Amino acid sequence: MENNLLKDSNEFISNIKSGKAFLVTKSESNVNAMQIGWGYIGFMWGKPSIIIGVRHSRYTYEQLQNSDEFVISIPKAGEFADELKICGTQSGRAVNKIEKCGFEMIDGQKVNVPYIKGCQYHYECKVDYKQSIDPELLNRDILDKSYKKNDYHVMIYGEILSSHE
Ligand SMILES: Cc1cc2nc3c(=O)[nH]c(=O)nc-3n(C[C@H](O)[C@H](O)[C@H](O)COP(=O)(O)O)c2cc1C
Repeated sequence: MENNLLKDSNEFISNIKSGKAFLVTKSESNVNAMQIGWGYIGFMWGKPSIIIGVRHSRYTYEQLQNSDEFVISIPKAGEFADELKICGTQSGRAVNKIEKCGFEMIDGQKVNVPYIKGCQYHYECKVDYKQSIDPELLNRDILDKSYKKNDYHVMIYGEILSSHE
């Protein structure tokens, strides 16, 4: 049963590598979706888990300060290209991306965050830990390349509670 939670992990990795994944969050009644290109899937504290990196400046991070749940929706190859672009370039602070993308959202099975209808696979996660990148501990080359504006990623560790089509 536990192993099924990591089902389609190869697909997860190849989609993440090419930035073809949505991170869905919800705070109060506001639902938001952001494109992500960083992430791990594996085991943490003995539990099937996903780790994502969300910069402090994102509206998504603001939502995750008020909520301990998120969903990752993985589209089929070649699908949702326009929606990925919207979710990766516009902020939920300025625009309701769910409406703009015309997403039909379906209630999560284990979390109070919905998933995107039509994507091929969904991971429903509960946050176990959040850890901001510490510049003191970071490789100097990465610091210079990725954090010129000090907008560090917060690594969000989520236990996978459900994964499904
Ligand atoms: C291919 C791609 C991958 C991205 N991956 C991430 C990521 O892993 N973490 C992150 O913080 N931002 C990432 N972004 C940037 C956010 O998707 C973008 O800033 C988005 O507008 C933030 O939305 P929000 O303010 O509604 O949270 C990525 C953007 C693109 C185009």
